[in-house]
Amino acid sequence: MIRDAGDADRAALERVARASFDGIYAFFALRGIRRADPLLVAEDGGAVVGFLEGLVFDGAPRIGYVYFVAVDPGHRGHGHARALVGEALRCFEARQATRAFAAVPDDNDASRRLFESLGFEEVPRSALRQWYGWRGIGVQMRMVLAPHEVLLARTFADPSPAPAQEAPRPS
Ligand SMILES: CC(C)(COP(=O)(O)OP(=O)(O)OC[C@H]1O[C@@H](n2cnc3c(N)ncnc32)[C@H](O)[C@@H]1OP(=O)(O)O)[C@@H](O)C(=O)NCCC(=O)NCCS
Repeated sequence: MIRDAGDADRAALERVARASFDGIYAFFALRGIRRADPLLVAEDGGAVVGFLEGLVFDGAPRIGYVYFVAVDPGHRGHGHARALVGEALRCFEARQATRAFAAVPDDNDASRRLFESLGFEEVPRSALRQWYGWRGIGVQMRMVLAPHEVLLARTFADPSPAPAQEAPRPS
């Protein structure tokens, strides 16, 4: 089950983060809990087994960003991360975001496949500037893409929808 995190989940989130990330990633994951929105948790049998930190960058259009997603090592492989990312995508769309992004280390196969299985594709970093112009620069800085990370994107809205077919006229 996926739900919004509450204050009472804080200890569980820290436990999962420490079990899932090393070094600088653990530091940023723990710090990110405070400002994440949405902040989602996955529950299994009443226990918190995973979490997702999302961010929505305001602007026109808005951008959804999956900042961190993690599942307790003992509960991986059961679809919790897929459910967390799926719910985050629904939140982003509900807030009128037209795209979602994620940055993953290029050697993190599990994470890359997770996002690819949900329609994310690798895009060059320059895509941010192309799609969002000057604003993209700010976004890029806030995303703090490390050199060994790849940028993955998923577009919600079809940017070039097929023209509607004209209804046949009665003769
Ligand atoms: C990445 C992570 C969140 C996946 O969590 P999970 O709950 O085990 O993932 P799911 O069971 O929902 O798997 C969904 C899909 O992800 C991919 N995947 C997940 N684990 C995988 C693995 N070990 N190897 C390859 N692909 C994997 C698969 O495509 C899988 O779909 P499938 O089961 O139909 O093949 C988890 O391994 C984790 O917490 N890792 C450490 C933290 C991290 O690296 N987070 C991502 C960067 S922020």
